[in-house]
Amino acid sequence: MNIIWHSKSKQYHLYNDKISYIMGVTPLGDLGSIYFGKRIHDKEDMSYVVNRFGLPNIVVDPDTESYSMELNRQEYPSFGITDFGTQAYEIELVNGSRVSSFICKDHKIFKGKAKLNGLPATYATEDEAMTLEVYLEDEVAKVSLTLSYTIFDKYSVITRHAVFTNNCTADIKLTRALSACIDLPDQDYEWMQFSGAWARERIPEVKKISAGSVSIESKRGVSSANQNPFVIVKRPGTDDFMGEAIGMSLVYSGNFIAQAECDTFGRTRLLMGINPDRFTWLLKKGNSFETPEVVIARTDEGLNALSQTYHELYNNHLVRGKWKNTPRPILINNWEATFMDFDEERILQIASKAKEAGVEMFVLDDGWFRERNDDYAGLGDWIENPKKLPQGMLGLARKVNALGMKFGFWIEPEMVNPDSNLFRRHPEWVLSTPGRKASLGRHQYVLDFSREEVVDCVYGMLKKVMTNAPISYIKWDMNRSLTEVFSMELSADEQGMVYHKYIMGVYSLYERLRNDFPEILFESCSSGGNRFDAGMLYYAPQAWCSDNTDAIDRIRIQYGTSYGYPVSSIGAHVSAVPNLQTGRSASITTRANVAYFGTFGYELDLNHITDEEFEQVKKQIVFMKENRELLQFGTFYRLRSPFEKDQASWIVVSKDKKKAIFGFYCMRSNVNQLPGFIRLAGLDENTEYELLGEKYYGDELMNMGITLKKLKDDGMTTGQDFVSYVEVIKEA
Ligand code: DGJ
Repeated sequence: MNIIWHSKSKQYHLYNDKISYIMGVTPLGDLGSIYFGKRIHDKEDMSYVVNRFGLPNIVVDPDTESYSMELNRQEYPSFGITDFGTQAYEIELVNGSRVSSFICKDHKIFKGKAKLNGLPATYATEDEAMTLEVYLEDEVAKVSLTLSYTIFDKYSVITRHAVFTNNCTADIKLTRALSACIDLPDQDYEWMQFSGAWARERIPEVKKISAGSVSIESKRGVSSANQNPFVIVKRPGTDDFMGEAIGMSLVYSGNFIAQAECDTFGRTRLLMGINPDRFTWLLKKGNSFETPEVVIARTDEGLNALSQTYHELYNNHLVRGKWKNTPRPILINNWEATFMDFDEERILQIASKAKEAGVEMFVLDDGWFRERNDDYAGLGDWIENPKKLPQGMLGLARKVNALGMKFGFWIEPEMVNPDSNLFRRHPEWVLSTPGRKASLGRHQYVLDFSREEVVDCVYGMLKKVMTNAPISYIKWDMNRSLTEVFSMELSADEQGMVYHKYIMGVYSLYERLRNDFPEILFESCSSGGNRFDAGMLYYAPQAWCSDNTDAIDRIRIQYGTSYGYPVSSIGAHVSAVPNLQTGRSASITTRANVAYFGTFGYELDLNHITDEEFEQVKKQIVFMKENRELLQFGTFYRLRSPFEKDQASWIVVSKDKKKAIFGFYCMRSNVNQLPGFIRLAGLDENTEYELLGEKYYGDELMNMGITLKKLKDDGMTTGQDFVSYVEVIKEA
């Protein structure tokens, strides 16, 4: 890994063993893109890529008389000076001008990576990464811009973000401040997005890009289940095992946009960052604005390799503290077993049975506080309901601990019900627009987390209940989109800041609680996977993946999630059948076979299953305890896509390739067909492995594949839906 500055040609080359990222100062003095791709030799001067010739109808720079931005590739483009593509940023000056131009002034190259200010971001030591900061200035506007680039030693990854500083004597408005732009020299790409809704999150969708643009966004105040802030741009034909692709993942949990734009001269422009819609940042003189970070990864070995890069990077350089690379406790959550209808006795019945099965932690979900017996009341009053918890959280936690289990509970700090003491005391603390009704979502309002005093108050309540009891885990939920976004505390000019300030408030609360309780495992949640993003992983290393706990639907949801996020982050539980969301009944084996490829836990009352199933649960827990390190932190490969067939398959392989765990799922049986083969991946070609009592070489399993008739049951051919197998493959 290195970052070279060629002072004569004014070019930068960031490289490691796998990638090169080259850019240079353009004839205009701003920063232009030269190359991003597979590692290439370093060269003093690559300015031959710059196009300096006229074409009909092209506008050029008056000094050079030959250079047009439109015919060249930019690093962080503006609009209004010879480039007509979508710009990365826009500044509105006091005189109303929105044209700006940043000229490179200086740079700094250093080992390691600097922290972002109050924002989540990847981190690295001096041996693990190098950073380039390019300092630019708009001399007319008197605004400076820092473009920051970090290259990691071991990963095909560049991270980027930008910082604007207002050095002029007046306040200015930033009306757009994206995190990064990548201009590519051709347009032979497909766009892959991960879309969905509640209970059907992160379903991959691929489209060809062509003249014009394709984009996804969120305007909900959360990253959203509708569009995930992670996209892939790939060559046609690139699949999980081969081909070139670039991923862009935003380390941010609020409104975002991701876009690919093809112009008429063959340029593809990729953009990602905070959604400029509803965003205007009043940048007061002397102040700075920092954008979130975008993590750009590249592969020419297919999408499994791209995903593995994100998995490892996020496990090693985003997740922090005690839970970094630590196998996750097997928990039981009472939500689907009781909803809000419980008392201490009922909870202890569930917990005791779970303990008997070997479960390690009990999680008390929604309904433990104040008047919270349904979703009409109580949010905002983070004080125990004495009818349900007669000795408070402390009493229950102690009893659960006495059973030999750890204890955690659910919170939804960003919300308030109209029927709550907090709302009655502070109706002005919710997001709402003067003179208008505030919309309700699940009978609740959104607290104005852009206000420090609101965050402070919630922090005080939560800290108290978390301090009073021995807590090992917190599930942090968030169950509605933001509407009527307006803060009573801000001026008219500042209302465009509310969405971002809101999420900064969320991050600050997370950070304070994390610092106060460094041992606690946080799990983020937002009606399931409505806020499953890299930003959240900085604070909460795992996220409840979906409220859809149906094993068959979960195969798709977890498969889609795996493109951008590690198995260790995917909250997955075994729940009761018929499934509450779909009415489907899969066996307890299949339900566990899916949940193993996640954080693993149970979300049902184990008192209500058959003795035979209970015996199986005990075995599942033994299996998970033995294998969770490999399942959650091994190298994960998608093998067969549930979006293409009625079958799905994946495998995790240990770093030394001596052990692997393979999962196969039949979602719908097809009669009168041969069983076929599944080609495994990630094994060592020359190692002999044992699988289902027989020996196979790695190359045999990866090239010929395992014949599905070897699997224990012939469910695929006899008409059983939802059959699945999880098999351990070990060096013989
Ligand atoms: C939505 C979450 O996704 C569920 O798991 C559960 O915690 C409920 N909220 C509780 O209200």
